[in-house]
Amino acid sequence: MIISFISQKGGVGRSTLARATAVEFARACKKTHLADLDSSQQTSAKWAERRDNTGIFPVVETGVYRRHDVALKAASNYPCLIVDTRPFVDISSLDIARQSNLVVIATGTSLDDLEPSLLLGRELVHKGIPHNRLFYVVGKAPSQAEGRSAIQTISAWQFACATSFIMFKPGYSIALDAGYSITETSWKTLNLRARNVISEISVRVSSHP
Ligand SMILES: Nc1ncnc2c1ncn2[C@@H]1O[C@H](COP(=O)(O)OP(=O)(O)O)[C@@H](O)[C@H]1O
Ligand SMILES: [Mg+2]
Repeated sequence: MIISFISQKGGVGRSTLARATAVEFARACKKTHLADLDSSQQTSAKWAERRDNTGIFPVVETGVYRRHDVALKAASNYPCLIVDTRPFVDISSLDIARQSNLVVIATGTSLDDLEPSLLLGRELVHKGIPHNRLFYVVGKAPSQAEGRSAIQTISAWQFACATSFIMFKPGYSIALDAGYSITETSWKTLNLRARNVISEISVRVSSHP
């Protein structure tokens, strides 16, 4: 099973969602591999190194890939392949999206973030990715109202969207800096909210195998 995390822009929480999904899938005892295709920034791979150095459980096996075809080959060795793509959509992201069971589009709540994210969804559908394989997740919402409003906009564009969203909270970035995922912070409510999002991703991918 391949779940790819795609966004048109950087900084919207794409790698953050990919990392949390990898952690929660690994915790559920699914042999999971996190493929980091952003070979210049290597956000996910560097985070996995911090996690390893601190000895955090579960271990998240991670690899950096310059070539998406090599990353996709890893899927034959792992029941779950989580792909963190680059902060723009190129031929390689399209190819990954085509081969993914679920394409998670991470987006912020401002119009500056939402509009390119929604246009990206349209472009993916136009390029032949089945509509029901796309799943939007709102990350870094500055308030509950803005999170809910972003979800309404995404639904108005007829795209499926997680009903839970990730708030912008320093507790999340502190956890990430220390090698934890957003489901493993020191704050129970933050963990619960993040786990709700990941479980929606998990349910969605199992209902569209
Ligand atoms: N919900 C959040 N609250 C606070 N900081 C966050 C949150 N999500 C991500 N971050 C921080 O924002 C930055 C960008 O997140 P990242 O997931 O790497 O974005 P992308 O992969 O879309 O470029 C990182 O420094 C990360 O620690
Ligand atoms: Mg990233």
